[in-house]
Amino acid sequence: MSSDLSTSAGPIEVGAARVSVDDKAMINCRADVNQLLPLKYHWAWEKYLAGCNNAWMPTEVSMQADISLWKSADGLTEDERRAIKRNLGFFATSESLVANNIVLAVYRHLTNPECRQYLLRQAFEEAVHTHTFQYICESLGLDDGELFNMYREIPSITDKAAWALKYTQHLEDPSFSTGTPEKDQAFLRDLVAFYVVFEGMWFYTGFAQILSLGRRNKMVGIAEQYQYILRDESIHLNFGIDAINQIKIENPHLWTAEFQEEIRTMLVEGCELEIAYGRDTMPRGLLGLNAELCEVYMHFITNRRCAQLGLEPVFPPAENPFPWMSEMMDLKKEKNFFETRVIEYQNGGSLEW
Ligand SMILES: [Fe+2]
Ligand SMILES: [Fe+2]
Repeated sequence: MSSDLSTSAGPIEVGAARVSVDDKAMINCRADVNQLLPLKYHWAWEKYLAGCNNAWMPTEVSMQADISLWKSADGLTEDERRAIKRNLGFFATSESLVANNIVLAVYRHLTNPECRQYLLRQAFEEAVHTHTFQYICESLGLDDGELFNMYREIPSITDKAAWALKYTQHLEDPSFSTGTPEKDQAFLRDLVAFYVVFEGMWFYTGFAQILSLGRRNKMVGIAEQYQYILRDESIHLNFGIDAINQIKIENPHLWTAEFQEEIRTMLVEGCELEIAYGRDTMPRGLLGLNAELCEVYMHFITNRRCAQLGLEPVFPPAENPFPWMSEMMDLKKEKNFFETRVIEYQNGGSLEW
């Protein structure tokens, strides 16, 4: 069977043998990628279903309270405003960086239909997240040029984007394909950079900043949107962890001691970049949150990501300084969600053709 079938729409092989579950593989697969069934990776399918069950739109969340607070002269301190703006500036373009990595780099090389089904769902969710920042920017009347250029103009944000981009750039090259240990490892590095570091570490300081404000009744609309993003992102992260671990199981020759060391170093670099970003966004600290606590939190998160990948921890054991974050992640507030939805929500039944 032609290997073209594994990544793209190759010619149909009339009369070729039917796909069996055993023919399916995460990478370098030679079975038809157009045949979802029979399922092999149930964890990927379950994440697709879980993602679909988390449908939401940013415009369903009222921004009225945030708008009055943002426009009031003394509702927010200068430090809070700086942290909020840098936070929004980081996320505004990060969602697009993540989406582009999925569509232009990951999708082609993850040669399995159930994983691709999830990636299609995730790509849409990233579009909803980018939409969230457009909606916030417009609602608060922020300078969109300032917000969407921070990843090129604010060094602590540029450093993070540049670090991640170097792992995706060469995978986006149409001539790049997996199939040798070196290239398969390059693909694994990209999965680690985006799923584990970008979505699994860097987003978490940002979530903690906004949710901490929300707990003090500030910027509650943005805080609610971040809770929905956090719920989506925790599935993205878990999908990435499962995908990496499954590739390891199927390709143990890639997971050498040397490569494991390299991945641990990547996680340490990601952690250091995040600590620098925390200092830059909160030079003096906010009520209940400061750069030092964020540093401890990042050490805790980094060790946890190591454990999820089956790696030795990179830092001495650290306590989670924000135990309330896990509560936020559970999002047991479905009821509250519906109470805050705007009533003019347009559903299928109200469309006129
Ligand atoms: Fe996202
Ligand atoms: Fe994501």
